[in-house]
Amino acid sequence: MIEINYRREKKPLPVQNAIVEIGFGNGDFLLKHAMENPDRFHIGFEISGISISKIVKKAKRLGLSNLRVARIDAYWGFYLLLRNESVETAYMNFPDPWPKKRHTARRLTNLENLFLFHSRIKSGGALVLKTDERFFVDYTIENAQEMGGWRWELEENAISETPTKYEKKWIQQGKTIYRLILQKAGQPSKEIKIRHLKEVSEVPHMKTETPRFYPEELPGKVFRLPNTTVAKFFNLWRRDEEYLLETLLVENGYEHYFMTRFRRKDGKWVIGVSPFSEVLKTEGIRDLVLWLSGREL
Ligand SMILES: C[S@@+](CC[C@H](N)C(=O)[O-])C[C@H]1O[C@@H](n2cnc3c(N)ncnc32)[C@H](O)[C@@H]1O
Repeated sequence: MIEINYRREKKPLPVQNAIVEIGFGNGDFLLKHAMENPDRFHIGFEISGISISKIVKKAKRLGLSNLRVARIDAYWGFYLLLRNESVETAYMNFPDPWPKKRHTARRLTNLENLFLFHSRIKSGGALVLKTDERFFVDYTIENAQEMGGWRWELEENAISETPTKYEKKWIQQGKTIYRLILQKAGQPSKEIKIRHLKEVSEVPHMKTETPRFYPEELPGKVFRLPNTTVAKFFNLWRRDEEYLLETLLVENGYEHYFMTRFRRKDGKWVIGVSPFSEVLKTEGIRDLVLWLSGREL
């Protein structure tokens, strides 16, 4: 399977010297790189479902066996799927620049991301950024300098053999194209706090006579749980003695979307995640089920 089902798959992936592209868009750069480097394993992270289906189709047509992609935020892709020191080069081509000050945290080269990418990149490996935005280059260098452990090189209008869709567009408009190569050189001089997700082997189905809420009480409600996750409940469907409740759980910025199931059995409530919802089994989901069943966290 070209698409990584990271909710089910054994993680991290057993790869070494991997080539990663963050936000590959139409996928042309990654596909060409994978074709030209059959001895390297390639991984792409994208949040756009359309980009994922397009690259999967193209990779199948090309018969590529050294490429896998995941629909996941690059932060969690690196966090969950890659081992420390397993990446040779991570490419980031024309990321959304998020120019407004209030959106700075969304930039893909924020301190937290850079710190995580650094841990997954092998010594001597690199993060290669291309952008047409000078402020984005400066922002990235400032962060690299602040955390330490990087050496960098900046080129202007470096001619690309494989211009991406955005690169072609900016070249046509006469913009300067920057290529910033951040090479891993030693350990960071500063510890940056990063978000974590703890996986658990099982999310239980809890039996109780006294749930914290009955299912009819939950649609439209939002709760901040003691473990700092936020749970929001939307629609409720009932079929006989079974209730399915649309649920969004935000755990350290990771969004789980699934159906919580309440079932009546032998005079009790059984609460858990619907077997038709494929979730990343984490402490956050387990705790939500425990909390809904009335347990204190
Ligand atoms: C401006 S486009 C550039 C696409 C392509 N790299 C190119 O140069 O043509 C940015 C891409 O990054 C993806 N993206 C944005 N945030 C992301 C994230 N946190 N993780 C993974 N991909 C992301 C978007 O879906 C989009 O496809």
